[in-house]
Amino acid sequence: MAIKFILPDGEDTDIVAHSYNGFPVSTPEDFLSFLKAVGAKDPQVLASFLATHPAAKAFIDAPKPTPLSFATEAFYGVDAFRFINAAGVEQYGRYRIEPVAGQAHLSASEAAQRAPNFLSQDLAERLKVAPAEFRLLVQLPAAGDPILDGSAAWAEDRPVLEIGTLTLHALAPQASQQPLFFTPLNLVSGVASSEDPLLVARTRAYRISLERRSKSAVARD
Ligand code: HEM
Repeated sequence: MAIKFILPDGEDTDIVAHSYNGFPVSTPEDFLSFLKAVGAKDPQVLASFLATHPAAKAFIDAPKPTPLSFATEAFYGVDAFRFINAAGVEQYGRYRIEPVAGQAHLSASEAAQRAPNFLSQDLAERLKVAPAEFRLLVQLPAAGDPILDGSAAWAEDRPVLEIGTLTLHALAPQASQQPLFFTPLNLVSGVASSEDPLLVARTRAYRISLERRSKSAVARD
């Protein structure tokens, strides 16, 4: 889930979250190795990588059931940010977004019977009946929790603050979605980057991806 807040002064700020609480690796270099291992013809390459990278093994092994709806999935920001109050006091936290409707997933056989784009169709149908609502939360670490390692989820007993509600009323036309650019480092005063190395790598990769997506859209037109 990528969210863009358009602020009153015309600035915008983003939250970019996915549906796994964590990440297979903690650095961009390891992510490249992970992707190469996943894509390798020789299955031993991936086996060797997983043997030395337990978070990647946990990621591969974790069940990732298809959601019943985008409106029944939880999303995690993964990388920590520094939240800074008016007095300059800093607090690390990680975004999470939980569906007000509660989480609901399909069994593998139910998912196999759905059309490939059923989640998009479901959302369009759902929004005709009622808005989709999500709680915007920030999870706080306990002393000693790894702050700069997105592959290490913080325990579920850590405090979680509710900072707002997101209400989705309608879908924008596809053509206006295409050029949108979301990055986790498009921040606003009071929220600052952490030293988590994934954040800079993500921002660079997303920009290149946007450029390629824009070029291929022009080529298609
Ligand atoms: C080094 C690690 C990562 C790299 C290199 C990476 C790279 C990318 C790239 C290239 C895209 C396509 C962007 C576009 O076409 O506009 C993308 C999209 C996305 N990524 Fe990542 N990613 C990383 C980690 C993560 C993590 C940790 C999360 C979740 C917390 C995440 C969530 C997303 C989401 C939600 C999108 C879709 C954004 C959109 O629709 O514009 N990614 N990522």
